[in-house]
Amino acid sequence: MAVKILDVDPLERRTRMLCAFVQEGGRPRPLGLGRLGAGVAKAVRQAAAETGGKAGRVSVVHTLGTLRAERILLAGVGGDASSPDAFRLASGRAAQRAREAGVPEFSVIVPGGPGAEGRAAQVVEGARMSLFSFDRYKREKAKADPELVLLAPRSAAVRRAVSDAERIADAVVFTKGIANLPPNDCSPATLAGIARAVAGGGGGGRGGKPRMKCTVMSKPQLKKLGFGGITAVGGGSANEPRLIVLEYGGGRRGERPVALVGKAVTFDTGGISLKPGDKMDEMKFDKCGGCTVLGVMKAVAELGVRRNVVGLVPSVENMPGGESYRPGDIVRLYSGKTAEILNTDAEGRLILADAMAYAEKRYSPEAIIDFATLTGACIVALGTNVAGMVTNDDGLGGAFMRSSRNTAEEIWQLPLRDHHMEMIRSDVADVKNMGTGRAAGTITAAAFLREAIGDTPWAHFDIAGVAWTQAATKEKPYNPKGATGFGVRLVLDYLSGGGRGGRGQ
Ligand code: BES
Ligand code: MN
Ligand code: ZN
Repeated sequence: MAVKILDVDPLERRTRMLCAFVQEGGRPRPLGLGRLGAGVAKAVRQAAAETGGKAGRVSVVHTLGTLRAERILLAGVGGDASSPDAFRLASGRAAQRAREAGVPEFSVIVPGGPGAEGRAAQVVEGARMSLFSFDRYKREKAKADPELVLLAPRSAAVRRAVSDAERIADAVVFTKGIANLPPNDCSPATLAGIARAVAGGGGGGRGGKPRMKCTVMSKPQLKKLGFGGITAVGGGSANEPRLIVLEYGGGRRGERPVALVGKAVTFDTGGISLKPGDKMDEMKFDKCGGCTVLGVMKAVAELGVRRNVVGLVPSVENMPGGESYRPGDIVRLYSGKTAEILNTDAEGRLILADAMAYAEKRYSPEAIIDFATLTGACIVALGTNVAGMVTNDDGLGGAFMRSSRNTAEEIWQLPLRDHHMEMIRSDVADVKNMGTGRAAGTITAAAFLREAIGDTPWAHFDIAGVAWTQAATKEKPYNPKGATGFGVRLVLDYLSGGGRGGRGQ
């Protein structure tokens, strides 16, 4: 989707579709449209009233030659236009309507004044993300994306915000595209190939030369180096495991990096502790954490983020077979600790523990952030619109809470106490890969991860409920059915200082 910024009077703009936002409360009126002639003014007022300014509601007026714009689309932004998702949602609906109408271009009035750059960014993100359609396996493809023209002040701040928003939205769309891949077309080796391509394009943004390096470890190497979690879980599949490492050097040489770790189980059958058949197909989404990390790495390079960032993606397929690991096994993890396997379906924590321990030892990172579709318990606790966060560092947790507000990617913190750590002690090994029955399932999984590292500040995101759209998922135009790319915008905001109260998205 191409984006252009024009600083012109909206009523002078000749376009097939002119979009104006409408705020809720009082008499809902379009923002920034200017004075209309008597005839069309009434129709526009009526249409605006019809939306009630309610978030996500739209109404279209055909102007029948009375205006330069062929039609006007009114899009409600709700009562609080400064809420961090208002323009993203409204612009998403507008973009989808523009595509349905088959117009080659739509022009959106971005209300000026303080915060215009934030609104412009939301409009771009909302439109781009909402036009994503996963149609590579369908004979009938989505209609061509209309071009987006922003009617906004062409200030440096707006131009910068728009160009960043395009790259951020592109990364989300990229993440959705790979996370939606069916498991027969996406093995750990496939993801490794995608990661290499991300590194190859690493110099594409500001800053010129390639600054991304990709290393992929395969089975023999993982065995030799002591990645006992990854090789145990990956043992049962003909699609052999990989550990993908992307190193991005946008910061000063020698500056400690931020390590991003993402679970990429390309399919989770449960292994020998086989899952029931119901909705097992959805376990193709068990790679979403890893896909988020790949998307973020692509974006940091394209945005020219001035920090060092390492992305680690342990990837396996969890299958039953003659070489599978089993309940009762004791495996030695990369940290040197032993883990008693009580359920082969609790596989995510095993591969993450290996990758996190490696990240800490190899990079002495300033922080470790991990994303994982880790526990069904997280859906029970928080539902399908909020991710669970567990952290050992309240400062880091606070920064993510602020980035969550900036991006409208919802998170909620769960505690991790000593009594939770007790719940994963094993009688025969250092730890076990399951807690006690169903009690605190999300937290005991996090406790297992905590055990893999020392005192590096760490934040864990359980995205089991939010990584793809499920039955109880709140509908949003920018999250069409399938993978959501959850976490990409959240971490990018955190990395750009949004969580410190600086520039957010
Ligand atoms: N990938 C699943 C978690 C999951 C399940 C995410 C359903 C989203 C929807 C994970 O590997 C898993 O199977 N976890 C088990 C852990 C249990 C065996 C301790 C679970 O949640 O049941
Ligand atoms: Mn599992
Ligand atoms: Zn899993």
